Amino acid sequence: MTMSSQDAAKRAAALQAVKAIEDGMVVGLGSGSTAALAVGALAARVAQGLRVTGIPTSEATAALARRLGIALTSFAEQTRVDITIDGADQVERGSLALIKGRGGALLREKIVAFASDRMIVIVDETKLVDRLGGTTPLPVEIVAFGWQTVIARLAALGCSPTLRLEGDKPFVTDGGNLIVDCAMTAIPDPAALEARLATVVGVIESGLFIGLASEVLVGRPTGVETLRR
Ligand code: A5P
Repeated sequence: MTMSSQDAAKRAAALQAVKAIEDGMVVGLGSGSTAALAVGALAARVAQGLRVTGIPTSEATAALARRLGIALTSFAEQTRVDITIDGADQVERGSLALIKGRGGALLREKIVAFASDRMIVIVDETKLVDRLGGTTPLPVEIVAFGWQTVIARLAALGCSPTLRLEGDKPFVTDGGNLIVDCAMTAIPDPAALEARLATVVGVIESGLFIGLASEVLVGRPTGVETLRR
């Protein structure tokens, strides 16, 4: 897929997702390049009179939404989200389990997804896989204190962990934490891996999103396909 056709595919999925948003809804605003297209499409509808409030999943998305004129709210005011629209790094066919977090926003993305009645995931077809893992490492958000010990524990679980860097410094998330990218040949049982990761003290969350995507809109050069669990 060429760059421009990939962009067109992402845009098609984003436009279709935004059609699900209705007046008065609280909308979870995802992070990443595909979610940004949805924020742009939502802003266009807001400019035409749609009234919504957004809960952003990252500081970058919050800044974009503000710039485009989408009113923002927070969990201090709303504990439920009607629909969240977000991207993904990988989508497993059938289960619609996801890997997220290449942009480093996985913790807020997961909190918003859990609070949402419906999560619409928007991707181009390059993100679809038969089994999670492989070419895409699993991002895991960890606390900064003692990160070396956490990395050792993650390695003992069978992955090849690498502390994510930005330049020559550790990448720091919006929450002030670090990200470890865990390379694995394949993830045959995402739920079991999620449970094992949760036993490691210092791990905050992983980028495994299991049972959260209500539907996945796959942008293709020929149109948008909707996948449901
Ligand atoms: C952000 O932390 C990620 O979970 C993104 O949703 C994911 O990386 C998808 O981004 P793109 O739409 O840019 O591929």
